Amino acid sequence: MNPDRRPLIAANWKMHKTLGEAVAFVESIQEQTGPCADREVLIAPPFTALRGISGKLSLHGYSLGAQNCHWEQKGAFTGEISAAMLKDMGCAYVIVGHSERRQLFGETDETVRLKTSAAIGAGLAPVVCVGEALEERERGDAFEVIGRQLEGAFQGLGPERMNGVVIAYEPVWAIGTGRTATPGQAQEVHAFIRSRISSIFGKAIEKSVRILYGGSVKPSNVDALMAEPDIDGALVGGASLEVGSFKSLIQFNV
Ligand code: 13P
Repeated sequence: MNPDRRPLIAANWKMHKTLGEAVAFVESIQEQTGPCADREVLIAPPFTALRGISGKLSLHGYSLGAQNCHWEQKGAFTGEISAAMLKDMGCAYVIVGHSERRQLFGETDETVRLKTSAAIGAGLAPVVCVGEALEERERGDAFEVIGRQLEGAFQGLGPERMNGVVIAYEPVWAIGTGRTATPGQAQEVHAFIRSRISSIFGKAIEKSVRILYGGSVKPSNVDALMAEPDIDGALVGGASLEVGSFKSLIQFNV
């Protein structure tokens, strides 16, 4: 972490928790951790729990986000939800281009670009996910893949639209596998992402953009990851589902 950027610990609940479970979780986590001054906590529940918990995330430092959106504002897109609808639910963030959406639901660099732009247009901060698969890392192609994903997501955007945008580096081989990138491996990629952002958008955005690490983040490894200078937070799946483990992540110590 870097004192100039406020750390962000984000819970991506994926397809977990009923409304009742979601409400109980946010009440309990806020009661146990209290307001957050020097860090920010983001909860991204399934769509069905957004409305139910938006009014309950009332403590300072807690924000609401969604896990996906469509790029059109409205229309005949059965089953889809627009960025403006998420804003209307109280969301401040939306995750875009998660590897599960890329792998299982046909998300491409082009749809990630459209969604990123739609989110910014609706006043949401996109959390744009990038990351290489295991074969790509083993072939030595990780930087090339991530560079292409970044160019794809941000093509055509000017630096004036980048304020608040978050990037998440999630190596596909570390998601849900228990196999975390070492802090050194993650830092190397985060530094690469920051330098690529600098060449696209310039120094000011390079310094302000927050880059989260995701992939088997746990209470046992969060401190070492957060000690790296270009890691500004975590995007957490499994360990965000239990109040006890998520509380330890929020209370990371470097
Ligand atoms: P895990 O923390 O379960 O590995 O999931 C990471 C992730 O995909 C967060 O978006």
